[in-house]
Amino acid sequence: MEAGESAASGQAPNDNILYIGIDLGTSQSSIVTNTGVKSTVASVVGWPKDLISYKFLKKQVVIGEECLENRMAVDMIWPLENGVFRHRPEQNDDQDTGEPSLNREAEAVEHLINYIIELSGRQPGQEVRTVIGCPARASEEDRQALIDAVTGKVDYALIASEPFLVAYGLDLFNNALIIDIGAGTLDLCRMHGTIPSEEDQRTLLKAGNYIDTRFHMLLQEKVKDSPITPEMSREIKEQSAFVSSQKEVIYFDFQVEGKPKTYDVTEELRESCESVLPELISSARELIITFDPEYQHDLRQNILLAGGGSQIRGLAEEVRSNLTEFGPCRVNTVEDPVYSGALGALKLAQDMPDIEWRQVGKLTR
Ligand SMILES: Nc1ncnc2c1ncn2[C@@H]1O[C@H](COP(=O)(O)OP(=O)(O)OP(=O)(O)O)[C@@H](O)[C@H]1O
Ligand SMILES: [Mg+2]
Repeated sequence: MEAGESAASGQAPNDNILYIGIDLGTSQSSIVTNTGVKSTVASVVGWPKDLISYKFLKKQVVIGEECLENRMAVDMIWPLENGVFRHRPEQNDDQDTGEPSLNREAEAVEHLINYIIELSGRQPGQEVRTVIGCPARASEEDRQALIDAVTGKVDYALIASEPFLVAYGLDLFNNALIIDIGAGTLDLCRMHGTIPSEEDQRTLLKAGNYIDTRFHMLLQEKVKDSPITPEMSREIKEQSAFVSSQKEVIYFDFQVEGKPKTYDVTEELRESCESVLPELISSARELIITFDPEYQHDLRQNILLAGGGSQIRGLAEEVRSNLTEFGPCRVNTVEDPVYSGALGALKLAQDMPDIEWRQVGKLTR
């Protein structure tokens, strides 16, 4: 609350406010608070498959890593998988019985958000203000659905796109291009001193999951005599992902008839990681050449890779060398790809003047 207003209303300013920055990602979500909480959770929710699973898990619902660890015993849902929230139970009402049908996606979003907010360590009676970063592809309707999901759990909430929050957290307010390589989407966002509009953003569907599908397929073709799960191939990617400017050979051992057999997976991994590059480069180009010509040079000096996929080795150099046709470029990678979105969200939450929070973020039930 602003000093002027509290004096006028006779109320003391509320300094017991919990600020929460949340990054809701397709594959993982992160939370940071002004009280020092910093945590991530896999964006997955599971229900025990049957009575035995229930007896063993002793829970109606399991979330995050606990769900992954027990993947054989649960029906899993990744509710943000397509960058779209489906929190609309009334649309799925069963017409015949008049009973609401089981809308698992809606429930899953709700469980995930509840779980994340619980991680914040909120104290009873404490006012909570949260900025939530969501996949850029989320529509207005989806954003509203998200607001509905947190209503009653926090007092104030704002939704913003992930790459914008990454930029905000790093004080890159002007002449910067953020490229956020997530699991479900690859989002590009150019900053020019105001809130970015539609024309400043691009969302591509070839991101981490796309690399995973491709690499899994290529690995299965190569390693025919050993079963390879999608989880195994993702693990290999996360350990060794690289693009062409890195000169190296990647070997992995697979179990063949009970014995380890070594395979060279270099080409499979390179080809998969590079599969997201053409669209990335052409969208980055488009955002550069349609920028005010006077500031294009500055924009090219401020290109930042974020998101889990920014850890692909050699990527910054590859992007740089593909964009130099317009003049020199500088491409860097964020220091903290896991938390950069949530940290930006927290910073925005704390920077927002009280009056703006009340105008745009107040939730009423
Ligand atoms: N070391 C690594 N090298 C390459 N890719 C990685 C690495 N570590 C994680 N990833 C990939 O990054 C992606 C997850 O990134 P991130 O957490 O930014 O996504 P998200 O926020 O959940 O997704 P989205 O932004 O699409 O909603 C996954 O595809 C994961 O496999
Ligand atoms: Mg993300």
